[in-house]
Amino acid sequence: MEKTFAIIKPDAFAAGHAGKILARIYAEGFTVVGLKKLYMSKVEAEGFYYVHKARPFFGELTDFMSSGPCVVMVLEAKGAIKKWRDLMGATNPAEAAAGTMRKEFGTSIGNNATHGSDAPETAAFEIPYFFSGLELL
Ligand code: CMP
Repeated sequence: MEKTFAIIKPDAFAAGHAGKILARIYAEGFTVVGLKKLYMSKVEAEGFYYVHKARPFFGELTDFMSSGPCVVMVLEAKGAIKKWRDLMGATNPAEAAAGTMRKEFGTSIGNNATHGSDAPETAAFEIPYFFSGLELL
C-alpha cells in the first residue's frame, strides 16, 4: 500500500465541492488515513510550494492557496500517487479528461480544485508538512 498527499483547494472548498470530491475518493477505493480543514498562511503556502519558488506564477499560486480554507488529506491505496493523479486529471482543467476532479470542479490552471503528490519523494515531504505521525494512526 502506498500513501499520497492530497488537497481540496480553496476554490473547490469555497464552492461547496469538498463532499463530492471526498465521495469520489471513497468510491475509487482509497482509504482516508488523515483529513483536516485548514486555512494556510502565505508563509505556509510558500514553504509547501517552495520547489516552484522560481516560477513566474509562484506569487499567484501562494496567494490563492492562502486565500481561504482548504482540506488536506493523506490517502492510501495500491499505487495511490498515480491513482489520485489520474482521478485529478491534467493540471489545466481545460485539458483534463471528462470525469476527473479538475475537469468537474476546476476553473483555471491556478484554480484547479485539487492537488496531489507527483512522486514518492514529494509525498515524503508533503505528508509530514501538514500531518504528525499521531494524526495518521
Ligand atoms: P498543483 O498540482 O497544486 O501544483 C502546482 C500548482 O501550480 C498547480 O497545481 C497549478 O495550480 C499551479 N500552476 C501551474 N502552472 C500555473 C500557471 N501558469 N499559472 C498559475 N498557476 C499555475
